[in-house]
Amino acid sequence: MTTLESLPAPSADTAAAIHDAVRERYAEAAVAAAAATSPEEAAAGSEALASCCGPDGCSDERSSPVFGAELYAATDRAALPNAAVLASLGCGNPTAVAELREGETVLDLGSGGGIDVLLSARRVGPTGRAIGLDMTDEMLALARRNAAEAGATNVEFVKGTITDRPLVASLFDKYEPAGVFHLAAESHVDRSIVSADDFVQTNVVGTYSMLESARTYLNSLIGERKDRFRFLHLSTDEVFGSLGEAGYFSEQTPYAPNSPYSASKAASDHFVRAYQHTYGLPAIIINCSNNYGPYQFPEKVIPLMILNALSGKPLPVYGDGSNVRDWIYVEDHCRAIRLVFERGASRETYVVGGGNERRNIDLVRRICNILDEIAPMEEVQSLHEQGLKSYSELIHFVEDRPGHDQRYAIDSARIARQLGWQAEVGFDEGLRRTIHWYLSNPDWVDQASSGSYGEWIEKNYAWRIRKEGS
Ligand code: TYD
Repeated sequence: MTTLESLPAPSADTAAAIHDAVRERYAEAAVAAAAATSPEEAAAGSEALASCCGPDGCSDERSSPVFGAELYAATDRAALPNAAVLASLGCGNPTAVAELREGETVLDLGSGGGIDVLLSARRVGPTGRAIGLDMTDEMLALARRNAAEAGATNVEFVKGTITDRPLVASLFDKYEPAGVFHLAAESHVDRSIVSADDFVQTNVVGTYSMLESARTYLNSLIGERKDRFRFLHLSTDEVFGSLGEAGYFSEQTPYAPNSPYSASKAASDHFVRAYQHTYGLPAIIINCSNNYGPYQFPEKVIPLMILNALSGKPLPVYGDGSNVRDWIYVEDHCRAIRLVFERGASRETYVVGGGNERRNIDLVRRICNILDEIAPMEEVQSLHEQGLKSYSELIHFVEDRPGHDQRYAIDSARIARQLGWQAEVGFDEGLRRTIHWYLSNPDWVDQASSGSYGEWIEKNYAWRIRKEGS
């Protein structure tokens, strides 16, 4: 028999690939195990593997050449039962499939923004239901409108907050969901810098409340319903901190949050991890890069720049505009969310990125170029009267965001390899679609920019512009 000592340690990438291969074969392997396992071999494999695996599986496969060699030994012998041994030890959580079925309800807890609404529109079949939970009347009205316009039929909205534990528990009781999409979060870094109160409440306390309710609910399930239950926790790449010029975030990147926002998301991720580990909650975490597309609240940089440009206002680029973000079109992200929920390995993390790195200044210039082409200033009377020729003349460099992360970029290899996902919408195509959407939906923009939004804009930009001019 091949001994572990005689095997060369595979490279970290090979180890990760083998790990994924074993994981993918697990379902089949489990069935074959009883018939084909040689007890000696299984025992030897188990012993060796146990030494490098925790009870919740192997989370650091890339950093463990020993583990890679062991997997190599198992797969080299082409012994499917050994894959079952690996899985039974927790090495590679079984890839159970939790496909949503016609008519099933999921608790979709989000802010009613672009990701929620497009996710609902694409997910819910004619008789399916998703339940949205949101906080204020203002946001609820917008969320309802978004859902109706995007064709997200059968979405029900409930007024409340995810920190209200009795309310969340009652939703589990009432709807008996097949799973949870936990998308509810405060997500704007600049707001978190002004005050992190809401971030701690919604992102940390709210996630804890969701986890507790999900745990209680899960305990009440039996059989297939229990096996298929999934809790998808949507998070951000910002929990990993800031990159220099090179490198990418991956599932192995240590947490190093820099803003109050990312600290609150990191805390929520840690709670999810603890519930996976301690209670076996079948949760999956996605850490995604910057989203853009329709229905995005206009405080985020892309809609803000489009809408400011169209009304002839300054385009406020923070600092020197050299900060880099990796942009993903919201529909690509929604596909990833559904795929991970249905086919992702339970108790796993996936990082997801669009593969579109852009410096902020280049992003803003590109928006201006597209606008010059499709909404030329000469044709917009109020802008023509300002004597401007190109939207790029509106660009202003303003006081930087405190603690501004320099660069985010994602290595999406795991989700590509395991689930076959890749971003489909090119950046230019996505930007054009987004710009067209904002141009075609002035009523939506009016509604989104009413209420407390104006106060926020005043708070966030007045001092920045003033500093620039002083
Ligand atoms: P944002 O959309 O707030 O997302 P995040 O902070 O989560 O990455 O900002 C994206 C980038 O754009 C970020 O580097 C900050 C920058 N930015 C500006 O330059 N000007 C602005 O007015 C805003 C809102 C953001």
